[in-house]
Amino acid sequence: MKKDPLVIYGSSREEGNTRHALSLVLNEHPHEFIDLRSLDISYFDYTHANEGDDFLSVAEKMLSHEKIILATPVYWYTMSAMMKTFIDRWSDLITIRKEMGRALKGKWVYVVSSYGSEYPCGFEDPFRLTCQYLDMHYGGAYLHYSGNDTIRVEENTRQVSAFKHLLFD
Ligand SMILES: Cc1cc2nc3c(=O)[nH]c(=O)nc-3n(C[C@H](O)[C@H](O)[C@H](O)COP(=O)(O)O)c2cc1C
Repeated sequence: MKKDPLVIYGSSREEGNTRHALSLVLNEHPHEFIDLRSLDISYFDYTHANEGDDFLSVAEKMLSHEKIILATPVYWYTMSAMMKTFIDRWSDLITIRKEMGRALKGKWVYVVSSYGSEYPCGFEDPFRLTCQYLDMHYGGAYLHYSGNDTIRVEENTRQVSAFKHLLFD
């Protein structure tokens, strides 16, 4: 089992604010990185006709790590559509790949996000409740403010420091 975290990245741009938030958190710490944009992962399908796309290979990687970081910007008050599509496919792990779903038990999930104006109330709920459903541990979030308000930019520094303790101590 790998101790270094697996990062699953769901922003619509490679070097945007969510990537920056991740770099503050990881700070050169070794990790494995998966960019959902580069993969073929389609919407959940009740007939599982998409079983051969890239989803299961990412799920295999999740099984080989103790800690999983889901990185997503806030788009329209919630996670990115890319991240939501990916998480919808976790339903494959409780239907056609139940043994994989069971193997997620006890893993730790963290969220790194960035937002431009207001951090939406309830943003973490889908992550926390999904973890609860799958017997995973929800470890918390670093919610990076990417706007221009100086006081809130300063808060990022305190919050990133607290989050790094959660993730690495
Ligand atoms: C499609 C879209 C929707 C957005 N919706 C919100 C929002 O609901 N709340 C908010 O605070 N910022 C919102 N923003 C701003 C982004 O959350 C913010 O710029 C974020 O840092 C972008 O991260 P990225 O560079 O990884 O895409 C939105 C941006 C985009 C492109």
